[in-house]
Amino acid sequence: MAKTSTSFVCQACGAAFPRWMGRCTSCSAWNTLVEEADRKRLGKLAGPGASKVQAISEIAEDGAARVPTGVNELDRVLGGGAVLGGVVLVGGDPGVGKSTLLMQALAGLADKGCRALYVSGEESAGQTAARARRLAGVARSKDLLVLAENDLDAIERALDESKPRALVVDSVQTMRAQSMESAAGTVSQLREVAARFVERAKRDGIATFLVGHVTKDGAIAGPKVLEHIVDTVLAFEGDRGHSLRTLRAQKNRFGSATEVGVFEMTSEGLREVDSPSKLFLAERPINASGSVIAATSEGSRSLLVEIQALVGSAGGGSPRRTCTGVDSSRLAMILAVLERKAGLAVSTCDVFVNVAGGARIDEPAIDLAIALAVASSHLERPVAADVVAFGEIGLAGEVRGCARVAARLAEAAAMGFRRAITPASAASSSADIEVIGVRTLSEAIDAAM
Ligand code: TYD
Ligand code: MG
Repeated sequence: MAKTSTSFVCQACGAAFPRWMGRCTSCSAWNTLVEEADRKRLGKLAGPGASKVQAISEIAEDGAARVPTGVNELDRVLGGGAVLGGVVLVGGDPGVGKSTLLMQALAGLADKGCRALYVSGEESAGQTAARARRLAGVARSKDLLVLAENDLDAIERALDESKPRALVVDSVQTMRAQSMESAAGTVSQLREVAARFVERAKRDGIATFLVGHVTKDGAIAGPKVLEHIVDTVLAFEGDRGHSLRTLRAQKNRFGSATEVGVFEMTSEGLREVDSPSKLFLAERPINASGSVIAATSEGSRSLLVEIQALVGSAGGGSPRRTCTGVDSSRLAMILAVLERKAGLAVSTCDVFVNVAGGARIDEPAIDLAIALAVASSHLERPVAADVVAFGEIGLAGEVRGCARVAARLAEAAAMGFRRAITPASAASSSADIEVIGVRTLSEAIDAAM
């Protein structure tokens, strides 16, 4: 261990201690002890620099140099490719496919002659190489390098020697800086490790991807600490029972944070899905009650998904409400509106709602499709197979307008749908599809069934 006697320093009096304490025994101040390496960094950030006030109009833009990874869905979410000098944190549950995705991305970069280093702290070099060989087309390039290591200093030496332009660190929680006392994965280690990779990325212009494990509640471990340090935060999500994977930007300094990439996990790695709507609609039942197609919007594109509902008698017990892929409080609100404003007696029924294919939809424009699916199941009347629906539902039973109407209608028309039940405000938008604008939920139910 490098530091033994002066690892922690009191910010109030400057006294040094071998270990952390809540109270400084020298000046009696509380919570003033910080780890030495942290303190140096804080000083660097807060200290006086060569900064000056300038007119925005006179500052040249920092053009971000991008290299497409060749994994198109990833490139789109990043905003057009990996940024040299940019640091991306990729979070996701274990087994979702983070290592696979990033190995494919690095292979794509290496194929373009962009030297790429994959540092694994979790698997041996042999395991990493074996995985890479299983992926279609990967592991041919001499520019794709791998290192099994979790000591930060050793990794930095390897970076000096091999001088890669792209780097994956899998995972940031397994890396350890010897200058810090604490164990790998603790908050101070995470901060130190991430900060050193960020410094390195900026200095040498390395496109850096840090893999971060997600804790049980869905936050990337290292309580939000890393999100502020990095340029881009991506969340890789998917359901264990489905092959579908989605990649979302949660923060992006170099592009939009609303884009979504869609992949399918196959035996040859992740395959890009260029028409997600096709995938989502592949197995939909035709003319079955309780099934409605929703036109949703994700970033710059529209996605069609099937909403399924099943309404049954609760048999006198307390009714069950279960939903996957949509928000449960949203469903509760929609059921209340259906009961009070559209006269559907669903309050005593069991209600199950599911987005087919394992997608998750957050936007309120999904409301109308959920309501129609529930109504369709309750009334046992199918909604015609050539109909899509979108629109937000208000507490008064009104159907409210939503964003990106044209994109939704265009996607529906492209997928062969003939009619769209939409908010009244969308009715004027012309497209290759008949638009049925509705003002209230009751009007929508009449139009659909
Ligand atoms: P992995 O990339 O190791 O996930 P993470 O790094 O997020 O923990 O992927 C793990 C899962 O993906 C594993 O259950 C096996 C599966 N998989 C495939 O189905 N096909 C493949 O080509 C690969 C490499 C993995
Ligand atoms: Mg992994």
